[in-house]
Amino acid sequence: MTAMNKELALQEARRVVGYIEKEELTKDEKDAIVKESIANFNENVNPGWLEYRKSVSTDAAFVEWTDTEDHFEDLYGTQFIDCLGGFGIFTCGHRNPAILKTVKAQLDKYALHSQELVDPLRGYLAKIMAMITPGDLQYCFFTNGGAEAVEMALKLARLATGGRWFISSIGAFHGKSMGAISMGGKGAYREDYIPLIQQVQHVEYGNAEAMEAAIKNLQTVGEKVAGVILEPIQGEAGVIIPPPGYLKKVREICDKYGVALILDEIQTGMGRTGTMWRCEYEDVIPDIMTYGKAFGGGIMPITGIIARPKMWVDKLIDNPWILGSPTFGGNPLACSAALATIKFMLENDIPRMCKEKGDYIMEKLGELQKKYPTVLKSFRGAGLLICMEFPEAEVGYRVTKGLFERHVMTAGTLVNAKTVRIEPPAVLSQESIDAVLIRLDEAIADAKKEFKL
Ligand SMILES: Cc1ncc(COP(=O)(O)O)c(C=O)c1O
Repeated sequence: MTAMNKELALQEARRVVGYIEKEELTKDEKDAIVKESIANFNENVNPGWLEYRKSVSTDAAFVEWTDTEDHFEDLYGTQFIDCLGGFGIFTCGHRNPAILKTVKAQLDKYALHSQELVDPLRGYLAKIMAMITPGDLQYCFFTNGGAEAVEMALKLARLATGGRWFISSIGAFHGKSMGAISMGGKGAYREDYIPLIQQVQHVEYGNAEAMEAAIKNLQTVGEKVAGVILEPIQGEAGVIIPPPGYLKKVREICDKYGVALILDEIQTGMGRTGTMWRCEYEDVIPDIMTYGKAFGGGIMPITGIIARPKMWVDKLIDNPWILGSPTFGGNPLACSAALATIKFMLENDIPRMCKEKGDYIMEKLGELQKKYPTVLKSFRGAGLLICMEFPEAEVGYRVTKGLFERHVMTAGTLVNAKTVRIEPPAVLSQESIDAVLIRLDEAIADAKKEFKL
C-alpha cells in the first residue's frame, strides 16, 4: 500500500462508514451512492454483474438501502414487495423485530467466540435442533454458508461409512464449492472446474430404480458408496417435486446397501414448504440433513448439518476437528439469530403460514392459468416454494420484468426465465399478496400482447 493509497482508502472508508451511521442521507449523498455503486461494481466487483442484474431489474440505479417485513426499499424510499425472499432467506421477513432484538442483545454481550472456552449458545442451538428435527437426528455442526454445510455432509458420509462414492441427481443444486458442484447436476456450473470429485454418479431425479441400479452396479464392481445426496424438492432446477413415495423408496435403498442418505434442506427447510422440514412431510429420516438460508432469520448467515448418532463415529468423537473447524461456524451472534428464529417460527407456526399462503397463491395462479393458458403454461409448488412455467424464457423474462416495473421482486433472468419462482416471506401480508396477484395479472397480459400468444 502506497502512502497516497493509504490516505485515499482512509478517506473513503470514513465517508462510507459515515453513510452507514447517518440517520438521514441528503439527496446529493444518495445520488453519489447510486453513481459510485455502479462504478464500484463495474471496476472492482465484476463488469458483467450489473449487466446481468439489469436484465432482471431494467434499471441498475435501484440501490438497496433498507428492508422491513415483506419489502425492501431503495435509497429514495421506493418499495419493492419481496416475492423472491433472497431465494429462501427471508421466511421470517426482513429484519424481523423479534429476531433483531435478540441479535442486538447478543451483540451487546459478545459477538464472536474465543475459540477456546465453551460458547453456550452453540450447545443450546444444537439441543433445540435435535428437538425440532425428525427421528434420532442428534449431533450438529454449524457452518457459515450452504455449500460449506454440504461439504461437511459429504465428508461425514465418507468418514462414517468408509465408502468413497456419491450418487447425486440430474438438475441438483447444492452450492458452488468444489465438493458441492461435484454433486451439482448442471453441466454449465461444472465444466470449467473438471476434474471435480471423481467418484460421483448422477441419476435421474425422481427415479428410485435408477438410484438403486447405480449403487448396485458400483458395489458389484467392488466400489463402496458413501452417500446419496438429494434435495427433497429440487429448488434451483425449477421447483421439481418428486413422485410420491420416492424419498421413502430411496431411504429403503440406502438402508439395504448401507449408504448414508443426505437430504439437503437448505432451501426446503425451516417451514418454507409447509412443514418445518420437507422430509417430515415425506415421513423420511435422513442420516445427515443440511440446513441454511432461513435458519439465521434473514439477519445472520448460519448453516449447518445435523446427523444421526450412528454417523458420529468414534474417530470423530476422538478428534472433533477432523470434520472441520471453521473459525466463524456457530459463532454466538449467528447462533443468537438462529435461536430467535426457531422461537419465532414455533410461536407463530410459520410452516402453517407458508402452507396457507402458498395454497392461496396457487389457487389464484390456477385462475390466472385459466385466463392466460398460452402464457402461464403451468405452475407447481409446496408451501411458499412456488414456480410458474412459461412457454419460452423470453416470455418468463417479460413477466418478471413487468413485475419488477410494478415493484414486485421475483426470480428470473434472461439466461433462465422459463420458470419463474415465487418465494416470498411467510409474513407477506394479505394486502401485499393481493397486490402481487393483480400486478402479476397485468404483467402476464403485457407478455400476452407483446408475444401475440
Ligand atoms: C438446496 C441448496 N443447497 C445448497 C445451496 C448453497 O447455499 P449457499 O449459496 O449458501 O452456499 C443452495 C443455494 O441456493 C440450495 O438451494
